[in-house]
Amino acid sequence: MDSDSVRGDFPTVRKGSGIYLDSACQSLRPDQVIEAMDEYYESFPACGGRSVHSMASKVSVAVDEARESLASFFGTKDSGCYVFTSNCTQGLNTAAYGLGLRGGDVVVTTDCEHNSNHVPWLHLQEEKGVRRRMSRSRPDGSFDIESFKSCMDRSVKVVSVQHSSNVTGCVVPVRAVTEIAHDYGATVIVDGAQSAPHMPVDLNKIDADVYCVSVHKMLGPSGVGVMYGKEEVLKRMSPLCLGGGTVGLVTYGSVSLAPVPDRFEAGLQNYAGIIGTKAALDYLSHVGMDEVERWDSMLMERMMKGLEDIPNLRVVGPSDPDRRLGVFSFNIDGLNAHDIAMMADSMAGIMIRSGMHCAHPFYVSRGIDGSARASTYLYNDGKEIDVFADTVRHIAEVFGDRSLSRSSLSLRI
Ligand SMILES: Cc1ncc(COP(=O)(O)O)c(C=O)c1O
Repeated sequence: MDSDSVRGDFPTVRKGSGIYLDSACQSLRPDQVIEAMDEYYESFPACGGRSVHSMASKVSVAVDEARESLASFFGTKDSGCYVFTSNCTQGLNTAAYGLGLRGGDVVVTTDCEHNSNHVPWLHLQEEKGVRRRMSRSRPDGSFDIESFKSCMDRSVKVVSVQHSSNVTGCVVPVRAVTEIAHDYGATVIVDGAQSAPHMPVDLNKIDADVYCVSVHKMLGPSGVGVMYGKEEVLKRMSPLCLGGGTVGLVTYGSVSLAPVPDRFEAGLQNYAGIIGTKAALDYLSHVGMDEVERWDSMLMERMMKGLEDIPNLRVVGPSDPDRRLGVFSFNIDGLNAHDIAMMADSMAGIMIRSGMHCAHPFYVSRGIDGSARASTYLYNDGKEIDVFADTVRHIAEVFGDRSLSRSSLSLRI
């Protein structure tokens, strides 16, 4: 990957607006995405799928093209299986509430899920009597297939797992999960919020029934997500929201739903966002997702090497950089995670996240009140990572508590 050329495409990088290491929350956007959205607002700011005038037709074509880009990016044939949502959370909720689960049906998740793939199931347990089982992770947060297998039997109707964790970066072997789950007749939902931006994802191979992503984590516009579903699964799923755009003919007393995907996209859509999504996918495809993954892995290796011998730094998750998919969570003895984040910003203009990262059960179950998190992407470079490592070292040495120090970088949740 030509790092200088990639970095040159991002306005905030060009302007020197600091070292952005918060991409697991939301990524930066390249000129190509911003320009595509500007062009929509400047040249054809109409609505799609309704009016038949020339501007509106242009929008409808652009929406179709964006769906085709999604199909090609994720390796499936049918572009009609991609539903635009406002984020990954909306996709996960649509699937959770739309699959018609009843009291006694069992849902299996892992114990490392983001709240967006945890709270809807908790709510369904309270509201409908759905039963939940959790596959237990190993101490470093990695997926344990034996624990997963022990959760499975014929009463399991849905398996809903993250593809990759926003805390530990651990990747769940979703192909193996879908194979096992399908043997028991369960529907598989995958939360791809952290994986789709950082690794090649072939939905045909993975064979998930539903796969949800956050476009704003993969160079696309804020407030855009996508829910992919196999056609037969989307057809048996009820929409979360109904109204204009989701229906065929409506009378005072009856309604027929529009075909998929339209029945899931109620009201006027975020057309600029959809057009920006295509530009983001084109950008990532041009760089190549293998290259993106390789770059993140190189940066993570450099980061962890740079932090190796800081005795009062505790890593949350695996200490092997190859297993972290662009996410590094950590604590420093004697310091609150928010203090670490604020110091990094004020000392060196480094932007990282702090807190529980919407994965509260993960932290609460391990008795820690959060962590700092640095997350990388294709626009970061080695020099930025070195500044980050030096800054964290300085913070740990000057402000951290060194009385509990250990000797080498290893798992220390
Ligand atoms: C693993 C994971 N799942 C789901 C989400 C929710 O994504 P969104 O904000 O697009 O709803 C996030 C966001 O950080 C995430 O990291």
